[in-house]
Amino acid sequence: MKILGTGSAIPKLEVTNDDLAKFLDTNDEWISSRTGIKSRHILSEGETLTDLAAEATRQALADAKVDAKDLDYIICHNIMNDRCIPGMSCIIQGIIGATCPCVDTNAACTGFIYALDHADALMKAGKANKILIICAEQMSMMIDWERRESCVLFGDGAGAVVVSNEGEDCAVKVTACYTPALNCNVKQGDTPFRKDTTTYDKLEMAGREVFKLATHNSCNDIQTVLDASHTTASDVKYFILHQANLRIVEAIRGFLEQPEEKFPHNIEHRGNTSSASVLLLLDDLNKANKIQRGDKLVFSAFGAGFTSGACLMTW
Ligand code: UT7
Repeated sequence: MKILGTGSAIPKLEVTNDDLAKFLDTNDEWISSRTGIKSRHILSEGETLTDLAAEATRQALADAKVDAKDLDYIICHNIMNDRCIPGMSCIIQGIIGATCPCVDTNAACTGFIYALDHADALMKAGKANKILIICAEQMSMMIDWERRESCVLFGDGAGAVVVSNEGEDCAVKVTACYTPALNCNVKQGDTPFRKDTTTYDKLEMAGREVFKLATHNSCNDIQTVLDASHTTASDVKYFILHQANLRIVEAIRGFLEQPEEKFPHNIEHRGNTSSASVLLLLDDLNKANKIQRGDKLVFSAFGAGFTSGACLMTW
């Protein structure tokens, strides 16, 4: 599997730590020193998640030089969509004029790695040659804006890639183990047969537990894909990691004993954009011409479930 092109889009509104301190008991010093985040982009009036996903997709198709009609599948990952149905993959299909099958998936912040795993399987089964993967996330809709321990962490954004079955084999590992350290219970409506029992409908997170699980699982996942492809960490050009906390990136870097320049980050001005975060970073690197054909890249992410995964791919 090979990535042919990338794209990304973030909302216009940038919200700084100082902006948050106007309505929350927090401050720039706490947020930046504990997480690395200085600002994040949040969807506001006149912009939708679909707009971001469509823009990221247009860029990815143009970069890949692929016509929408030549796509064999669209996989769109999102925790929450603008609507329950249709899936965002279908909405984007309509916008770009594709005709292929479409599906939405949800593996929380690990979504991009799961989508790569699904794309790889579809290609190996001979069911698709060119697949569009979109990760579009509106975390601002799910978080409790009164909970300072979680709302300062997240941002909105969308990323997209076109992958094809050309290129070298990639190694992918995905995991899931039910651990309610990171929960979001969407309030359900009453029916004539069942009264709603859900009392809380926003994101709840045990930060320290997530931190430990994230570091432990990511190190394991990355080592597994390195071993599976008979590659060492030194052979890898970039480790493109989920942008959840700069201290987690640093802990993984410490485990792999690799130099800082191999661990690019953009969390400073994006925050945690869930499954879109790896794609936003990949697109930044691609647009800055920092990746050359033949470079080995490792993607890794973790999130609610608890899910995690890594993928080693040659650019
Ligand atoms: O995609 C997956 C998403 N989740 C994650 O990746 C989260 C992983 N975990 C983390 O990133 C870190 O655990 C956090 C950044 C969430 C928290 O950092 P921490 O170093 O684990 O801090 P803590 O939760 O132990 O809180 C330390 C103190 C507490 O005060 P006391 O009890 O020591 O008086 C908190 O009440 O910091 C306080 N605090 C804050 N203070 C100012 C918590 N949030 C804030 C805040 N501003 N926003």
